[in-house]
Amino acid sequence: MENKCAIEMKGITKRFGKVVANDSIDLSIYSGEILALLGENGSGKTTLMNMLSGIYQPDEGKIFKDGQEIYIRSPREAYQYGIGMIHQHYKLVEVFTAAQNVILGLDDEKLDLAKTEGKVKEIASRYGFDIDPSMKVYDMSVSQKQTVEIIKVLYRGASILVLDEPTAVLTPQETQKLFRILKNMREDGKAIIIITHKLNEVMEVSDKVAVLRKGRYVGTVETRNTNPQALTDMMVGHAVMLNIDRPKYEKPEEKLIVEHLTVLDQEGVKRLDDVSFTAKTGEILGIAGISGSGQKELLEAITGLYPIKNGSIRFVREKGKEVELMGLPPKRIRQEGVGMAFVPEDRLGMGLVGSMGMTGNMLLRSWRKGKGLLVEKKEPEELAKKIWEELEVVTPGTNYPVRRLSGGNVQKVLVGREIASQPEVLLTAYAVRGLDINTSYTIYNLLTEEKMKGVAVVYVGEDLDVLLELSDRILVLCGGQVAGIVDARSATKEEIGLMMTQFVTKEE
Ligand SMILES: Nc1ncnc2c1ncn2[C@@H]1O[C@H](COP(=O)(O)OP(=O)(O)O)[C@@H](O)[C@H]1O
Ligand SMILES: [Mg+2]
Repeated sequence: MENKCAIEMKGITKRFGKVVANDSIDLSIYSGEILALLGENGSGKTTLMNMLSGIYQPDEGKIFKDGQEIYIRSPREAYQYGIGMIHQHYKLVEVFTAAQNVILGLDDEKLDLAKTEGKVKEIASRYGFDIDPSMKVYDMSVSQKQTVEIIKVLYRGASILVLDEPTAVLTPQETQKLFRILKNMREDGKAIIIITHKLNEVMEVSDKVAVLRKGRYVGTVETRNTNPQALTDMMVGHAVMLNIDRPKYEKPEEKLIVEHLTVLDQEGVKRLDDVSFTAKTGEILGIAGISGSGQKELLEAITGLYPIKNGSIRFVREKGKEVELMGLPPKRIRQEGVGMAFVPEDRLGMGLVGSMGMTGNMLLRSWRKGKGLLVEKKEPEELAKKIWEELEVVTPGTNYPVRRLSGGNVQKVLVGREIASQPEVLLTAYAVRGLDINTSYTIYNLLTEEKMKGVAVVYVGEDLDVLLELSDRILVLCGGQVAGIVDARSATKEEIGLMMTQFVTKEE
């Protein structure tokens, strides 16, 4: 049986200044179906959906519902047409309960909380949500907050739901739960659009996939007639190799020994709690965890940027010769001749200086003394040119301000510079966040090359599939503690997902 067309978008164009975010896009959305909206970062997915949710209006093109042209001028009007969107960043009031948040902004004269809680429970049991309507938002996990956002939309009677990258913040188990709920909604006849760039998820949950590429509509395919490789080719526009090589280094040796590391933030809250592990030469040690589990603090503590309460961080110069790094600021660590490179999450800020060109940024890095490194003698300009060529950085020149480069090119400059310092330990935080597929694979390859040169690579990541393919071992952080360290060649996503929430008791 043919499903009914819920919404039709025709010739939709949206510009932001010179950027054409959406270029004459046609998209049909059907009731009783889950449509995945797939595309690389910046391909225009959020913009397109924001025109359904009333946040933006198209510059050109038309939107039809039941064959009638409609104009959606605000989120409120979107609800009147039965359209609700769950954005990437939640807009809940922390001190309110779930139910209070659900009715927030509704001009219900009789804000009968008991009644609302009843209705919330009814929605929850209908679709399979776990929710306590009287729970305060500040006591909720990210996934519980997401549940409130979804119920908020359902409470307003939406029959067309758009979810913008809803799984980015979830564990594999929470993702499974969300998918079951989405399928229940589909059975109930709702039209679901899920924005994502994760191919596994597209294959698992959707009925159809619509692909965008650089603001253009590439096409819609039935999920059962496609596969991840074909979808990637549609997204990127040419064939892409999706394998990550994982060669084995012959004899890994301990390079960095972290013991009982504990750090407190400014409020005195423990951000790392008795963390112990070793990073080995010729190994990529992946660090997994839901965001904010101590990943940032861990790398900053090792590089001397975060004050340490307790513990020990030892760099093994050679067997039997160790340097204690705990308490040393970054400059002292370099003076000790410790070859440590750091690719931080904040690329323009902690990493590079945006107003400077590639050459200027090479100059900024103080290179390691000793060991007769060639690099030391290399002129910054020469090094900048080398990175420009070898990593195919797209820039008009080596003196062009790096902040004007795209995210992928900024990251190439930063990673290139750090690798050029010939580190023995290479620490990376979210190295591929926001990058396109090709650049991501360039980065994976670079890290693997470093590993095979005998560098101890620490890779903080958020995509579990990538962590499992790229790493040799994976350390799982949960609430600042080590939930476990597993062999990445044999571990499963489910196992790591459980460890990610091991010490969290909030879930009912
Ligand atoms: N409010 C805005 N102002 C200017 N440019 C924007 C704005 N929103 C999005 N863009 C640009 O439009 C393009 C598409 O962005 P977006 O829709 O967010 O992509 P996606 O969700 O697929 O990652 C990008 O080049 C982005 O930089
Ligand atoms: Mg987006």
